[in-house]
Amino acid sequence: MVSLSQMLCFIFTFFLSGALASTGFAHNPILDKGKDKHKDPEKLMNKSSFCIECHQEETPGIFEEWLKSTHARTGVGCADCHATDAKEYDTFLHAEKHYIRTVVSPIICAKCHKDIQRDYFTSGHAQALEVLKTIKEDDPRFPVVSLYKDDNFQQCSGCHGGEVALDDNHLPDEATWPDSGAGRINPNTSHGNCSSCHLGHRFSSAAARQPETCLRCHDGRNYPEGDIYRSSAHGMVYATQTDKENLGKLGFYFTGKDMVAPTCAFCHFNGSGHGQRTRHNGAWRLPRDLTHPEAPMAPKNADKLRSNMKAVCNQCHAKTVINRFFDNADKRLAEYQEKTVQPKLKEYRRKLAEVKEGTERENIIKEYTRFLAEGKRYRMNLYMGNIGRTQR
Ligand code: HEC
Ligand code: HEC
Ligand code: HEC
Ligand code: HEC
Ligand code: HEC
Ligand code: HEC
Ligand code: HEC
Ligand code: HEC
Repeated sequence: MVSLSQMLCFIFTFFLSGALASTGFAHNPILDKGKDKHKDPEKLMNKSSFCIECHQEETPGIFEEWLKSTHARTGVGCADCHATDAKEYDTFLHAEKHYIRTVVSPIICAKCHKDIQRDYFTSGHAQALEVLKTIKEDDPRFPVVSLYKDDNFQQCSGCHGGEVALDDNHLPDEATWPDSGAGRINPNTSHGNCSSCHLGHRFSSAAARQPETCLRCHDGRNYPEGDIYRSSAHGMVYATQTDKENLGKLGFYFTGKDMVAPTCAFCHFNGSGHGQRTRHNGAWRLPRDLTHPEAPMAPKNADKLRSNMKAVCNQCHAKTVINRFFDNADKRLAEYQEKTVQPKLKEYRRKLAEVKEGTERENIIKEYTRFLAEGKRYRMNLYMGNIGRTQR
């Protein structure tokens, strides 16, 4: 095993050896700002050297990933995220010496990423479990969702997240963790999970920008985004012509200069077209909720939200083309909702009120679930660049 002094020596060499310059991040002002937060890398690494000494052997995968990360380069060590105060709710004594936690909630990341965490906390992602728990009886999705209420949405936790509990020793309870779901409820009752998209100790924006990060959850029979994207012109151009190196660009908004094809993150999160940094709340470009059977409009500023989206499209398409595209999609949506969705919703509401239990109800629910998923697929297809491929 490498000794502590060798290790520290290695880290300092790493810091000083131009590792920054070789990655192309050398003159990134945001990184430089990050560096300023930790003027004294020696002191910082001393805090974590105790962890590293064991963990480079005990969990080499975690150590290596961390070593490659922007965090390591800017001097953010194990202790910054895992160390606790002896009095904290989630603390346990580790290696006979240090108080640490295993589960790192967004509140911890907020020590250094305050604005992001604020933006994120009100997002659908952070609320993804809460939303299921609070769907009301008059919501058309209630008859389906309520079936999973009894076991507290365990079956949905892989993507929506579950409630993470601690055992008597303050370690994460084995029945509730690991959990990398979007809206998990943490032991400190905060909602959400930054590592649902920034998985692994690399904590990489380049990784989060790739559609695969999103497709872990946004794919499958009830979640048509994956199919829609893969089979769209955008998905094809992304797969065949995107220079992946650009994805590593840190701290700035992208434009059509960096990307030939938009990804999920490019259209929904990146500040492209606005000259601002990444947003961590997808709602800022969504004038209505297409996932809801009735596609309700956002409570306010719908026009502004739509123009936020158009600003992305405009990086690569002419304004006039984009305006026609959205006008057509809006028209077809209104028609579809009025002619197909509303009458069917009414019909199912009646049927479900009449048949309260038994196999007949189960069959109705099965049919109804399929109908809801089809509607969602139709609506999303209209807007994600795939008009004319709906159904079949
Ligand atoms: C004396 C060696 C040693 C030191 C020092 C040490 N660890 Fe560990 N740590 C371990 C071992 C061994 C495990 C269990 C891993 C295994 O068995 O593969 C572990 C497990 C962990 C876990 C998972 C705990 C769980 O079960 O949920 C975390 C988190 C962790 N260490 C973080 C840290 C941090 C942060 C530090 C520095 C403050 C640190 N460790 C210092 C040896 C050490
Ligand atoms: C930027 C914050 C951050 C840093 C820095 C960090 N971790 Fe973690 N660590 C996390 C997060 C987030 C998780 C996932 C836990 C969860 O679900 O919340 C985690 C999980 C772990 C686990 C349990 C995961 C498993 O599968 O066994 C261990 C062990 C661990 N970290 C050790 C380390 C060590 C050692 C270092 C330093 C080399 C380190 N961490 C640096 C945030 C961090
Ligand atoms: C002690 C301060 C600190 C903590 C705690 C911290 N970070 Fe960071 N993080 C930084 C700094 C500094 C950077 C460099 C860039 C910047 O300032 O945004 C960074 C960069 C990042 C990046 C971009 C890296 C890249 O290469 O694309 C991600 C993603 C990230 N952090 C996520 C997290 C998450 C998630 C957590 C909590 C699990 C966390 N951070 C906790 C300081 C911190
Ligand atoms: C761990 C699972 C998971 C991952 C990973 C994930 N999402 Fe989501 N996403 C969800 C869930 C669950 C919802 C529904 C939340 C709700 O009902 O409000 C959602 C909702 C959304 C919405 C609707 C608007 C909103 O904020 O509620 C958008 C847009 C979105 N996700 C985009 C993305 C993008 C882009 C990525 C990849 C960078 C991504 N998601 C990664 C699970 C995930
Ligand atoms: C594969 C990951 C995944 C699983 C598992 C999952 N969800 Fe979702 N859920 C999502 C994503 C992603 C969204 C947001 C995007 C969308 O609706 O297309 C979402 C949105 C929703 C919505 C709002 C939109 C709609 O379709 O009505 C409801 C309700 C919902 N989920 C219920 C559930 C229930 C109940 C379960 C468990 C039986 C569950 N989900 C399991 C990923 C998942
Ligand atoms: C739904 C997925 C998702 C979740 C959850 C998420 N992020 Fe991100 N994050 C991204 C994406 C995508 C990017 C890159 C966006 C871009 O600039 O193109 C990113 C970028 C970042 C960056 C780099 C910012 C920059 O301007 O380059 C930091 C720092 C970061 N995230 C921290 C966090 C923290 C802290 C949390 C939790 C509070 C979090 N993220 C939760 C998807 C996510
Ligand atoms: C070309 C840009 C673009 C790309 C790429 C893209 N989307 Fe979208 N997305 C949109 C637009 C536009 C809408 C509809 C906005 C509206 O209602 O006006 C939308 C709607 C959605 C919705 C419905 C949200 C709601 O509440 O109405 C989800 C969820 C979603 N996208 C997820 C994804 C995922 C996941 C990916 C990647 C697999 C992706 N998107 C790729 C532009 C894009
Ligand atoms: C980063 C560049 C980029 C962005 C941003 C972008 N697109 Fe595209 N789009 C393309 C490329 C490349 C094609 C492939 C066809 C072409 O070369 O015109 C395409 C094709 C399309 C098509 C034709 C699809 C077909 O099957 O024929 C539509 C419609 C479309 N985009 C709509 C949008 C909308 C709406 C947005 C914003 C929500 C958007 N695009 C954002 C690059 C982009």
